[in-house]
Amino acid sequence: MNKKGIIVSFEGIDGSGKTTLVKKFYKYLIKKKYDVVVLHEPGGTKIGEKIRRILLDKNEKINKFCELFLYLASRAQLIEEKIEKYLKEGKIIILDRYIDSTFAYQGYGRDISLKFIEKIHKNFFGEKIIPNITFLIDEKPENLIKVLKNKRTDRIEKESIEFQRKIRNGYLKLAKKNRRIKIIKRENKEKTFEKVISKWEEFINENRFYKKYYIEN
Ligand code: TYD
Repeated sequence: MNKKGIIVSFEGIDGSGKTTLVKKFYKYLIKKKYDVVVLHEPGGTKIGEKIRRILLDKNEKINKFCELFLYLASRAQLIEEKIEKYLKEGKIIILDRYIDSTFAYQGYGRDISLKFIEKIHKNFFGEKIIPNITFLIDEKPENLIKVLKNKRTDRIEKESIEFQRKIRNGYLKLAKKNRRIKIIKRENKEKTFEKVISKWEEFINENRFYKKYYIEN
């Protein structure tokens, strides 16, 4: 049973700066004496990191269902090894990408039915592993090209700007459907972080727990 652990996920297109925000958010919570851990997807476990290497290998052309099931495989391992345990211990789990990445990339990006993805999640994992709150760092892909050029280019980051646009629109649609997803418009690091904190404080002070849905409507 979930004692009182909380799952907070960070989402956004490639290069949106989630990882920096995750680090800042982690430090912020540690200062406030919360019991907090950071995990990332794909990966986060020994098996998951092996799967991650396959997924991000730029030399492979991967079938979209093969890709979907590898992300899910990595997630299944992470949930059993870490997320369920940390939830029982009452920890705050910060996730750098999580289930909404699958809806956005494999669902909206690769045109796999959202209902199908939702069904697999429900059957595999039930509902307890749905995030309590999700920060969607939103930016137009064309504004991130410079960031992406400076980064190591793995298979996915090499995909076209059109693909990133599809993902962004997908994320925005998901946010419209789910109250737990908070859109954070990307500005400079400090301002973006302030917005995350303000939404977080609102959530935690008002004890605003959302009923758990993969997709609310
Ligand atoms: P990563 O290097 O972690 O990207 P970032 O630093 O931008 O978060 O690579 C993760 C990639 O995997 C990213 O392009 C999104 C993709 N992805 C999916 O397509 N589906 C998923 O379910 C997850 C978790 C990630």
